[in-house]
Amino acid sequence: MLKTWSFHLPTFVRFGPGLIRKLGELAQEFGWNALLVGYKDQTGMEEVYQRAQRSLRSARMHIFTFFEVGPEPDADLVPRGVEMYKKNRCEVVIGLGGGSVLDVAKAIGALVKMEGVPWDFANANEGHRRITESAPIIAVPTTAGTGSEVTAVAVLSFSGKGRHPDMPLKAALVGEGLHPKIALIDPELTVGKSASTTAACAADALLQAVEACVSRMANPFSTVLAGRAACLIAQSLRTALSQPQDIAARSDLALASCFSGAAYDVTGVTVAHAMAQALGAVFGVPHGLAVAIAGPVALRFLQQTCAEPFAELGRQCHILANTPEEQAGRFLDTVEQLFRDVGLPDKYTIPANAPKDYLDRLVHHALQATPEACTLTPVKVDESVLRDLFQKILSPA
Ligand SMILES: [Fe+2]
Repeated sequence: MLKTWSFHLPTFVRFGPGLIRKLGELAQEFGWNALLVGYKDQTGMEEVYQRAQRSLRSARMHIFTFFEVGPEPDADLVPRGVEMYKKNRCEVVIGLGGGSVLDVAKAIGALVKMEGVPWDFANANEGHRRITESAPIIAVPTTAGTGSEVTAVAVLSFSGKGRHPDMPLKAALVGEGLHPKIALIDPELTVGKSASTTAACAADALLQAVEACVSRMANPFSTVLAGRAACLIAQSLRTALSQPQDIAARSDLALASCFSGAAYDVTGVTVAHAMAQALGAVFGVPHGLAVAIAGPVALRFLQQTCAEPFAELGRQCHILANTPEEQAGRFLDTVEQLFRDVGLPDKYTIPANAPKDYLDRLVHHALQATPEACTLTPVKVDESVLRDLFQKILSPA
């Protein structure tokens, strides 16, 4: 762990069931015209979008909707959102959705102020610039996973870039300007999510938390947040799945997601996320699911080197053992058992139409698109390590 460190959470966090009714009041602080960014397909979420728009209208806000976001959103969406924002003289961007919606909303907010196109700010682009400012952003998550509502990261898919231009490159825009001004976290908005989405998002939040603890940038503040996030997920994920309407369990997951976001925002993530992002780019595996598949194998790879942080996470999850090594092992057993219990897969079956050089593509994506995640891992992550780790999670068709 670092000897000197700092911790900054610039986002104003508003948390509570039913808080969506306050959206209009909060947005009004920035002006009267809002760009509302959301999913293209709002099936099952109609009520959430109606409640948000009702709140904005009752605060006399003018709403300009940009409901264009799908899974693994392409960076080309962002300039279109920027144009709409400027044309309608918007004063605030509101992202209402899961991680992909929040990331697009954050990127739009940033590009309103920064000159250039998304690729200029992508970490996979050598010589990229950091995002230093943005229009006001309000992030309203409808899943409990990425913690994007409090981070200065926005992951987008870039077409025609990198070593394999025939497949998308999933890269992150980074810079303190991406921090939302407000995170409005209403656990009620996650109630309608399916069991599989809830489990995959929780796996993402859990891995972000664990990786925040093992990162070379880990610090005491982020480790406390991450440990609490892990504990909340271990305690409440099963309940959220067996009783989907249980607001207490949903609140625990929403809080865990926010804690894990705040933690990894200062520490970065490590090799499990590098692998997950590659699975997303090469095979289109949704982020949470990709993290659930890559996570356990990546953590076992770090078990010896990271016995201390894993033992600390074990302590925070109330796992008892005689030695730190035993506690570390039991913590990893607990993560694996939880993933099995909630039906998350531990392997990815290679599709029949996969490119022949899929292993090379996965390895190169991890190294090129997520270089920080590789270097923040406390064990050297090179081509041969990645090749070995990917082979452990892939099974033939
Ligand atoms: Fe993640």
